[in-house]
Amino acid sequence: MSNETWNSTRVVLGEAGYLYYFGWHCLERIAHSIGGCEADKFLVVTDDTVLALHGDELLRGLRAHADVVLLSLPPGEGMKSLRHLSRHVEHAITAGATRRSIVVTFGGGVPGNLGGMLAALLFRGIRLVHVPTTTVAAMDSVLSLKQAINSGHGKNHVGTYYTPFAVYLDLALLQTLPQRELRSGFCEAAKNCLAIRPQSLPSLRRILRRGELASPSALEWLLEDSLAAKSVVTTRDAREQRSGLILEYGHTIGHAIELCDHRIRGTAGLSHGEAVAVGFAAAARISLALGKLDRKSARIHSDLLVELGVSAHLPGLNVSDVIGVVHADNKRGYLALGPHEAAMVLLSELGVPVGEPDLPLVSVPLDLVEQVVSEFIGAGSRPANAPLPPGVDPLSARARVVWAEALGVPINDETDFFMAGGTSPQAAQMLSALHVAWGVRIPLRTLFDNPRFADFVTAATCQLKSVARESYAHGNGK
Ligand SMILES: NC(=O)c1ccc[n+]([C@@H]2O[C@H](COP(=O)([O-])OP(=O)(O)OC[C@H]3O[C@@H](n4cnc5c(N)ncnc54)[C@H](O)[C@@H]3O)[C@@H](O)[C@H]2O)c1
Repeated sequence: MSNETWNSTRVVLGEAGYLYYFGWHCLERIAHSIGGCEADKFLVVTDDTVLALHGDELLRGLRAHADVVLLSLPPGEGMKSLRHLSRHVEHAITAGATRRSIVVTFGGGVPGNLGGMLAALLFRGIRLVHVPTTTVAAMDSVLSLKQAINSGHGKNHVGTYYTPFAVYLDLALLQTLPQRELRSGFCEAAKNCLAIRPQSLPSLRRILRRGELASPSALEWLLEDSLAAKSVVTTRDAREQRSGLILEYGHTIGHAIELCDHRIRGTAGLSHGEAVAVGFAAAARISLALGKLDRKSARIHSDLLVELGVSAHLPGLNVSDVIGVVHADNKRGYLALGPHEAAMVLLSELGVPVGEPDLPLVSVPLDLVEQVVSEFIGAGSRPANAPLPPGVDPLSARARVVWAEALGVPINDETDFFMAGGTSPQAAQMLSALHVAWGVRIPLRTLFDNPRFADFVTAATCQLKSVARESYAHGNGK
């Protein structure tokens, strides 16, 4: 796509549809185009960061056509609250908004959702335009009719469906995103690849290997692939209440981790997409434990987490808080669940959900969710290229024996090979279990290089933990 080009595509969501315009360095043109929509006021819903970085050009362009009512707040998930929605409503009405006004959301999914709610509620619905500025908004939230804010109990508890009349994206605005926010959209794209379009996995992995997520080719791939993945789903199920629930893959645990982490670390916490990536890796582990997903597919999930550079190590999080939010997840009513179950999207293979294609949700025991979540956030995975801890030593002979006994495998070259590589959150957990039990240090450099280690560790962790505990209790550990 050249600098001069301005493309558009029609997004179809069941009966609803709208044009999605996208190009490079086209913010002035965007403002002019929205300005031509005959409004008496533009209610611009944004956050202070986006406003400071890119606001001038958009606001100048809009003001050439009508008054602008600026509704900006400090950035972050905290914006998606009834309190802020109510303040925006009052401010807009006080400033003279009418049915001829247009809500223009300018920013990521957070201002997008808050502005979507404002447009849907003011005078029972006024026109809505999205100008996304994050990868998540550009490739996910603006391709959905869902608008929502959070309750004190969980994510997106208060919401509605509302159709924008257009979406305008200047891809160049995405290039000012910090790495973490860039990655966030690629995490959502990874979720789409795993759950809907496995054929796109090789191109995603190539982009991740190159590491230039803000390059024009990477951003254009992200947009095109996301449009393709979402349209497969939302043309059939615009409200994402039946087959479209597949888009929620990774979101049950992801949302819970995102919300709890945000309560502790604010905007420094995990981004939405990063939380979803932890969520899909955890969902794969659950599906593996339930005997639904094969090891190879589960390993692709954990490898992707590492390739995306997402660390699941969140030691400050309280597991029971996370489980509380999982329990209150807004998919709960779709299935008749017992008090100790959660509704989740799980895969039986890449691109194939467990359960009915028309309702890809299954009930999962909460204690299994709790076990997997605590393994994840307590242990963590590490990016393949992260610096190694100092002073790593070879595995002790004693540890080798106990590992082999725990796994019921002989100690030979093959065992040593398995023990010598891989990437997995459990690897770190196993290392710390061994470290505690015997005071040995493990050769992390080789450990994290061998992809076969992830499968090995998955099978071994439970046995190993109990053997390690037992050995330690009997004083055999040293
Ligand atoms: N179907 C849906 O409606 C849907 C889908 C996906 C996500 N969401 C929601 O979207 C939210 C997450 O969206 P998000 O990740 O875009 O979060 P966000 O809107 O909070 O943006 C993330 C951060 O990026 C900053 N930022 C935005 N644009 C920037 C730019 N161009 N340059 C530099 N910084 C910039 C923001 O100030 C913010 O700090 C969540 O609340 C999630 O629930 C909704």
